[in-house]
Amino acid sequence: MQTALVTGANRGLGFETAKQLIQKGFFVYLGIRDIEKGDELIKKLATDSDHAQCIKLDVTKNSDIKGAQDIIKKRNLGLDVIVANAGVFLEPRSEKHSVLEVDPIIILKSIEVNTMGPLKLYQALVPYMIETGGGRIINISSGMGQLSEMGGHFPGYRMSKVALNALTVMLSHEHLADGIKVNSVCPGWVKTDMGGEGATRSVEEGVETTIWLATEKDIPSGKFFRDKKEISW
Ligand SMILES: NC(=O)c1ccc[n+]([C@@H]2O[C@H](COP(=O)([O-])OP(=O)(O)OC[C@H]3O[C@@H](n4cnc5c(N)ncnc54)[C@H](OP(=O)(O)O)[C@@H]3O)[C@@H](O)[C@H]2O)c1
Repeated sequence: MQTALVTGANRGLGFETAKQLIQKGFFVYLGIRDIEKGDELIKKLATDSDHAQCIKLDVTKNSDIKGAQDIIKKRNLGLDVIVANAGVFLEPRSEKHSVLEVDPIIILKSIEVNTMGPLKLYQALVPYMIETGGGRIINISSGMGQLSEMGGHFPGYRMSKVALNALTVMLSHEHLADGIKVNSVCPGWVKTDMGGEGATRSVEEGVETTIWLATEKDIPSGKFFRDKKEISW
């Protein structure tokens, strides 16, 4: 049985990713911040403990990351896929702050969740992934982190996703030979709490490329994808 860890799996794109991976026969670890809601979530997924397990995982908390590492190693099923989906968009959408006006704390907090979260998770789990035969890492990034298409405003979100993309490329260079494939995905503009009602895509459309990268037999590494097609950094 293939295994996957999805962060931010309680709602939005993370929930849909976990749901579809379970339907495809994966054992899925659902990283969620509010573990009290774990049983409810498993019920909502119409699954059971043979196919899914909720793990308390705030990606900014070292103790949660260590806890996730312990649970995954103890279960001893290997780890084939990590989907770093948990993310925040902290800048108010109504006010387009200039990069000169933004509170630097917003930038630091965005990077703490969107970039340092995945980095710390990989430091804890990629050695185990390598030990158990390699695997795939999927960083849920955004077109707002594309340097080649960079616009103004929302510097915290944009910088955090640019840095996440850098992490994709670095990890891919360093660990391809260990059987680790790493890619970034832009899900498009998706109707979730983050994307809002005006978004153009459903969650099902939003996870298509992620599911493809998790399940397709032969995939490249060190690339950025939208709609299963490579896009520029
Ligand atoms: N929706 C879009 O249009 C869009 C476009 C491009 C990229 N993306 C990216 O797609 C990913 C998922 O976004 P979404 O639209 O599904 O957003 P969402 O509905 O706002 O969900 C965000 C998820 O991240 C979790 N999260 C936030 N901070 C966390 C932390 N410190 N530790 C662990 N989990 C944390 C949330 O958990 P809680 O419920 O506990 O808060 C929630 O599960 C994000 O990385 C986002 O940047 C989204």
